[in-house]
Amino acid sequence: MPHRPYIVGNWKMNGSRAMLAEARAIDRAAGRYPDVQVALAPPFTLIAALREAVTAMGVGGQDCHVNAKGAHTGDVSAPMLVDTGADFVIVGHSERRKDHGESDAVVRAKAEAALAAGLGTIVCVGETLEERDAGKAEAVVSAQVDGSLPTGDAAAEAVAGGKVAVAYEPVWAIGTGRVAQVPDVVAMHAAIRARLLSLYGEAGMKVRILYGGSVNFANAAELLAAEGVGGALVGGASLTAEAFLPIVAAAGSGEG
Ligand code: PGA
Repeated sequence: MPHRPYIVGNWKMNGSRAMLAEARAIDRAAGRYPDVQVALAPPFTLIAALREAVTAMGVGGQDCHVNAKGAHTGDVSAPMLVDTGADFVIVGHSERRKDHGESDAVVRAKAEAALAAGLGTIVCVGETLEERDAGKAEAVVSAQVDGSLPTGDAAAEAVAGGKVAVAYEPVWAIGTGRVAQVPDVVAMHAAIRARLLSLYGEAGMKVRILYGGSVNFANAAELLAAEGVGGALVGGASLTAEAFLPIVAAAGSGEG
């Protein structure tokens, strides 16, 4: 892997203050793997408390609005995430694209809003099972990369600074226990890299490409060792330290 591997837990709509103990345990272990960048994205309600509870790992949001402020009941903006202690935000997760009808253009605007606020961003892409079965997976994901990644001068600077990541998450592999085949992951990561180089030139090499979708202790080592895989975005297996730490360990060579 060309970069420090990036292992990110996405708690989705799970978590209460009682789960801060898990975050603390994950954080203590993260400190033992300095060659791995570890982060958690809890629900908005826990960002501030998590920020207080941890020292070694990153803390992020799972979404942000395209605008910095205004009449958008129920939404949270990128500057608000910064204010509450987040250092990055996930945008364009397939659950947001599906549940909230987010288009590539909206995802791009969110990524640009995140960068404007000084956050790092992880932009999610991934095909459905129908698209894969129809042989369209690479075309679909390439179009998502072209349409969802941030553009402009601020984006070029953020990309060069390593603040932009892509998460390849096949929709059919999320929360299903069904993991993509390693050769398919390698092929897709190569296709994504080609799009990134076309978008950003040589700086496109600085964008880490994470794999996501049913990553767990049993499959993490093989996936993380695969060509072009720069880390993992982990849902279900990030909810406890017991499930998450073996994935961090698989990415690193710390003392464990
Ligand atoms: P999962 O979720 O690990 O539970 O499949 C991954 C994700 O949606 O980020």
